[in-house]
Amino acid sequence: MNMSLPLWILLAILSCLAQNISGFDINCNSNVAVYWGQNSGASGSLPYQKPLGAYCDDDNVDIILLSFLYILKGAGGYPVLNFANICDYSKNASVPVFPGTELMHCSDMGVDIKHCQSKGKIVLLSIGGATAQLNSDADTFSKQVWDLFMEGSSPYRPFDDAIIDGVDLDFEQSSQMNLIQFANNMNQLYKTGTRKYYLTSAPQCPYPDANLGNLLSQAHVDMAFIQFYNSGWCDNSKYGLPHWPEVSYSKCFRCLLI
Ligand SMILES: *[C@@H]1O[C@H](CO)[C@@H](O)[C@H](O)[C@H]1NC(C)=O
Ligand SMILES: *[C@@H]1O[C@H](CO)[C@@H](O)[C@H](O)[C@H]1NC(C)=O
Repeated sequence: MNMSLPLWILLAILSCLAQNISGFDINCNSNVAVYWGQNSGASGSLPYQKPLGAYCDDDNVDIILLSFLYILKGAGGYPVLNFANICDYSKNASVPVFPGTELMHCSDMGVDIKHCQSKGKIVLLSIGGATAQLNSDADTFSKQVWDLFMEGSSPYRPFDDAIIDGVDLDFEQSSQMNLIQFANNMNQLYKTGTRKYYLTSAPQCPYPDANLGNLLSQAHVDMAFIQFYNSGWCDNSKYGLPHWPEVSYSKCFRCLLI
């Protein structure tokens, strides 16, 4: 998913569509996952996307993916977030940045994350985008993600005491040699926590995905949000919903771009 897509919402359509579900349920494949954070609906201009909290109040949405953590190792060795018009110190001088880093302190988003979770939704942090590379040490980075966003601790927590429900891997560069190790590390850290966490991925439609295929076949991934667009014959808007093989992980969401 690059950072300039038109508005896209991934709609999973396997079974239990008739069921009235409020909130996320991993056993039901009618969850709707929304990537929030790149102001994609407006192609980067006005009208800007609303703050995260506005989408928490939408009963159609079950999974919100905060998009993106796009630099894994920025100034001071800390990652860098980008949510377009939201919490960006280059556009809003009031947004605090942790000293010696480019990591923004987004307290409002922390409040919104908790609000979303109180509505039964899960909130995942999507790592990747068009340019990110997992070249840095997977051990250091997985521990850092746990400390900054989950049940670890750090003085530099962008969302304060809000705890995200997992991470999504959306790398679009090849040679992501450390992805599997990172995924394994996260799954191990998840087991040390007091709540349920998820690891998800966003492969492109052609199977297996050039960058994420090994991850999906070699690590445990809870859900996949498949990109049925920008992919030639796989493009849902041109050719309808193609077949995507069920592979070795537990849940494969079939997704529509709407
Ligand atoms: C779904 O359930 C909610 C909460 O129980 C209820 O308010 C709503 O009317 C239901 N929707 C449908 C379509 O049944
Ligand atoms: C600027 O950032 C501050 C601090 O995070 C926030 O309270 C305020 O709403 C932001 N202003 C705009 C226009 O986004």
